[in-house]
Amino acid sequence: MAAKQKTVYVCSECGAETGNWAGKCPSCGAWNTLTEFKTDSSPRRGELSRTRGFQRAKKISELDTSAEIRFTTGISEFDRVLGGGAVVGSLVLVGGAPGIGKSTLLLQMCGHTPADQTLLYVTGEESERQLKLRAMRLGVNQPSVYVLAETGLDRILASMDDLGPQVVIIDSIQTISDESLDSAPGSISQVRECTMRLMRVCKEKGITIFVVGHINKEGSIAGPKVLEHMVDCVLYFEGERSTSFRILRAAKNRFGSTNEIGVFEMAGNGLRCVENPSELLLSGRPENAPGTCVACVMEGSRPILAEVQALVSTTTFNASRRSNGIDYNRAAMLLAVLEKRGGLQVAGCDTYINVIGGLFLEEPAADLATVLAIASSFLDRPLGLDLAAVGEVGLSGEIRSVSNLNQRLAEIVRLGFRRCIVPLHVKDETEAPKGMELISVRNINEAIAAVLR
Ligand code: TYD
Ligand code: MG
Repeated sequence: MAAKQKTVYVCSECGAETGNWAGKCPSCGAWNTLTEFKTDSSPRRGELSRTRGFQRAKKISELDTSAEIRFTTGISEFDRVLGGGAVVGSLVLVGGAPGIGKSTLLLQMCGHTPADQTLLYVTGEESERQLKLRAMRLGVNQPSVYVLAETGLDRILASMDDLGPQVVIIDSIQTISDESLDSAPGSISQVRECTMRLMRVCKEKGITIFVVGHINKEGSIAGPKVLEHMVDCVLYFEGERSTSFRILRAAKNRFGSTNEIGVFEMAGNGLRCVENPSELLLSGRPENAPGTCVACVMEGSRPILAEVQALVSTTTFNASRRSNGIDYNRAAMLLAVLEKRGGLQVAGCDTYINVIGGLFLEEPAADLATVLAIASSFLDRPLGLDLAAVGEVGLSGEIRSVSNLNQRLAEIVRLGFRRCIVPLHVKDETEAPKGMELISVRNINEAIAAVLR
């Protein structure tokens, strides 16, 4: 039965599909992002083959959970983000800017392949020689690791059939292509079709597949965004190339939470897991300088300390503001609260806020530290190196309680801090860890008065 060929249009921003072309994506509203995509006309789309071998629906009470088997990647921070190791037969997308360290991470994982397993590393970007040189640098030389320098999807699948690996790495999705499609590698239709076919193999044969996907800022190449809804797990590798700090974050995980982050440091011999990120983030703090305060945020189950820096200077021109590591609107709100409730004339000043280490503080628990860093810079008085601050700031300048305070305080005292500012009403329930003074405050005025005046 001849199947009809259908044309759909896919948005490169959000991955939405529509039947008609439009200048503006009807789903996310982005302009000029819809690209034509011809769906496959092979007979497997015919009705007969679609219903053949259908499965009878099962009762939820009788479903088997032992099907979810995990294996360790050998990299503790990677396992943590995956939710306790990779799930056998899942497809994991590892996205990130070029040069951030995706290939390095996956190649290091190869170094932990057990002898009774087979892993296939498919590289479409580097030659065998280049890959070997890098593997030597990372100390990866297991006989159970196989390498294939290939970009044609059919030939890759044939090699997989031939070798029978349990784990496959595709580096990267933008370099491989299905030659039956006439679009170029890296185009939306190629990236989608190749991922769909890999997904099918992954589910049919129970192979675990890691797919690398590059992201570029302009979005001119089809990236992980259009694949997010298809795959089991989407991880993003973040960090500034100028610093050695790297964060692996889950944007989607069918087998675990998306709260956990993995922290790495890029060294000369590859990525190193950072089990105590706070220590690294706080290293090199300036001695007794104004405009810095330490905050404690929860990243999944783990409290992390980060240094918030602020620089406030008077200007005769229009005030400019930059915030790096804290949401711009949140920073603007905190400045307005300081002006109106704290009585500091910061609104007309140039204000720069920066979080050290490329970390992005999403939690409102970092508000108080941000406010104190700004006030400290404005008043030109240091807060002292032994002080940390935890609390959300409300619009009337009140300090509101935060979750997991005991866990945060334990981390704060572990890193040698002796004083911590906390919201007032939590004092009754919270016991100060040994060797720490809790300064409980009702509002930002009390906080400023307690440590800056
Ligand atoms: P890479 O893994 O190739 O990035 P991606 O696959 O995401 O494009 O990372 C390359 C960068 O990492 C490159 O700038 C060099 C650096 N690097 C190190 O600093 N140390 C190392 O041991 C390795 C292998 C790479
Ligand atoms: Mg790479």
